[in-house]
Amino acid sequence: MASTLTNKVVLVTGASRGIGRAIAVAIAAQGARVLVHYGNNGADADGVVAAIRAVGGEADALQSDLAAPDGAEVLAARVKALIGSKLDSLILNAGVSKAAKIEDHTVDAFDNLFNINVRSPFFLVKEMLPLLGDGSNIVVVTSVVAKAVPGNSGQAGVPSIPAYAATKGALETLVKHWASILGPKGIRVNAVAPGVIATDMSNFTKTEGGRQLTLEMQALKRIGTPEDVADVVAFVASDGARWITGASIPVDGGSKL
Ligand SMILES: NC(=O)c1ccc[n+]([C@@H]2O[C@H](COP(=O)([O-])OP(=O)(O)OC[C@H]3O[C@@H](n4cnc5c(N)ncnc54)[C@H](OP(=O)(O)O)[C@@H]3O)[C@@H](O)[C@H]2O)c1
Repeated sequence: MASTLTNKVVLVTGASRGIGRAIAVAIAAQGARVLVHYGNNGADADGVVAAIRAVGGEADALQSDLAAPDGAEVLAARVKALIGSKLDSLILNAGVSKAAKIEDHTVDAFDNLFNINVRSPFFLVKEMLPLLGDGSNIVVVTSVVAKAVPGNSGQAGVPSIPAYAATKGALETLVKHWASILGPKGIRVNAVAPGVIATDMSNFTKTEGGRQLTLEMQALKRIGTPEDVADVVAFVASDGARWITGASIPVDGGSKL
């Protein structure tokens, strides 16, 4: 069976920018109809839709604030209204990060991280379940930091990302449970775990210090791109990956080996 996405319908959360944008474009290039979800940046999402349509692809933009308690419900209702039937692939990519010194972490910032990165995927799976069926799959974008501590975290006074890392660890746990629970229905669930990727989220790679720190922890000596991740997500979402479930696939240039 070919690793193509022809005639599949795929929702990508957080597809207005960065990794999500690249996933939407890669998946559309393989023939899928893509639902381009966004939070605040409607103009950017419209740009992604226009870029996909310009080369003959099919895409629509859908808004929902995934920080809101009803964000998953709102998005699911919009997806159902638009497609009405089966969703072949649910790509849970939207997320936020926050670095701080340990004494500067706040309850609000912690809750915001967990609300967007963990609560919204958890309830999106619940809400989308009626649209998922035999042959559907879920791909969750986690991170290398779920399992390894990046950079020089732990040195006095250096901002670090333990709360963000914990959200990604929670997602990796959920992936295994979802894969086990949904496997008998023929639904695959996998994580794709990027290393440092050049996006708005990781703008520290634009400083010489940040760039050096990143390259030092990787076997491959360049900064990863959104397309490096998107190509793997597109494969995992395709029937070519039909016997892979409950896995976490690192896409990190050999980070922290
Ligand atoms: N960049 C990295 O180095 C890296 C490494 C490992 C894992 N990751 C993970 O990869 C995923 C994508 O990251 P990225 O680097 O592409 O980030 P990004 O460029 O900052 O983009 C984040 C995306 O998430 C959406 N989003 C954020 N908060 C939202 C909210 N409250 N409601 C709805 N949508 C929201 C944004 O939508 P709007 O702009 O429309 O609001 C945007 O499309 C994240 O899960 C991140 O944790 C990134």
